[in-house]
Amino acid sequence: MPISLTNKNVIFVAGLGGIGLDTSKELLKRDLKNLVILDRINNPAVITELQKINPKVTVTFIPYDVTVPIAETKKLLKTIFDKLKTVDILINGAGILDDHKIEATIAVNYTGLVNTTTAILDFWDIRKGGPGGIICNIGSVTGFNAIYQVPVYSGTKAAVVNFTSSLAKLAPITGVTAYTVNPGITRTTLVHKFNSWLDVEPKVAEKLLEHPTQTTQECATNFVKAIELNKNGGLWFLDKGTLEDIEWTKHWDSGI
Ligand SMILES: NC(=O)c1ccc[n+]([C@@H]2O[C@H](COP(=O)([O-])OP(=O)(O)OC[C@H]3O[C@@H](n4cnc5c(N)ncnc54)[C@H](O)[C@@H]3O)[C@@H](O)[C@H]2O)c1
Repeated sequence: MPISLTNKNVIFVAGLGGIGLDTSKELLKRDLKNLVILDRINNPAVITELQKINPKVTVTFIPYDVTVPIAETKKLLKTIFDKLKTVDILINGAGILDDHKIEATIAVNYTGLVNTTTAILDFWDIRKGGPGGIICNIGSVTGFNAIYQVPVYSGTKAAVVNFTSSLAKLAPITGVTAYTVNPGITRTTLVHKFNSWLDVEPKVAEKLLEHPTQTTQECATNFVKAIELNKNGGLWFLDKGTLEDIEWTKHWDSGI
C-alpha cells in the first residue's frame, strides 16, 4: 500500500555511496522526520550539505560497518530506537564489487544485510510487542540475470532477492514487510573498475560500461518512488531510467 514519507524516520545503510547519496538527497525532498545514515565512510561535509537541503529533516550520521557481529548492530540500533522512539523504514544498501574478494563480498553484500535485518527484528517483530516495519533491500538486476564474469557478486545479489522474498512472505508473522530495489548498471565508482572471478574477463568493467547505463539521479528518483509505492514482496527493476515491478514466474512452490 502506498505511503507518504512525511514525518517518517528512516535508517539508510550506505546512504553516502554513489546511488545512496543521490537517494538520500531525494528522500530529503520529502519531509521526513529523521534520516539516519549508517555508513562505513564518514564525510562530515556531505552530512552538512544534506542537512541544508531540508532543515525540517534531522540528518544524523553514525559510522557502521555491516560486517560487525550482530550483537554490535543490535546495540547501535538500540541507541537509535532510544533516541527516535520509532523507526519506520530500514534501507540496506551496502555493497562491494570485486570477485577477487570472495569472503568480503559475501560478508558485506549478503551476511551484513541479513544480520542488519535480523537485528532490527528485535525492535519491530509484532510477536515481541513491536510495531512492525518496512525493509527496503538493494539487490541488483544481476541477482536475476548474472553478470557471469562476477558470479560471486551476482550470487550475493540473487541471495538478497531470495532472502527478501521470504521476508515478504513472513510479514503476517513478523509484521515486517519487505521488497527489493534492483538497479541496472548505474554510473558509480563501483562499476568503473573491478575484478572478475579468477580473472576470467580482465576487461569486464569496460565491457559492462559499453551497455546502456543510467545516472545515479535517475536511479535515485525511481528508488524513492518505489519506497513510496511500498509494495510488500515487490521486485523493483530500476534500469535505464525506468521503474518496473517485475513478475517473477512461480515455477516452484514448497507447498507449506
Ligand atoms: N552501480 C551499479 O551499477 C549497481 C547496480 C545494481 C546494484 N548496485 C548496488 O547498489 C548499492 C550501492 O552501490 P553504488 O553503485 O552506489 O556503489 P558505491 O561503491 O558508490 O556505494 C557502496 C556503498 O556501500 C557502502 N559499504 C561498502 N562496504 C560497507 C560495509 N562493510 N559496511 C557499511 N557500508 C559499506 C559504501 O560505503 C557505500 O556507501 C550496492 O549494494 C550495489 O551492489 C549497484
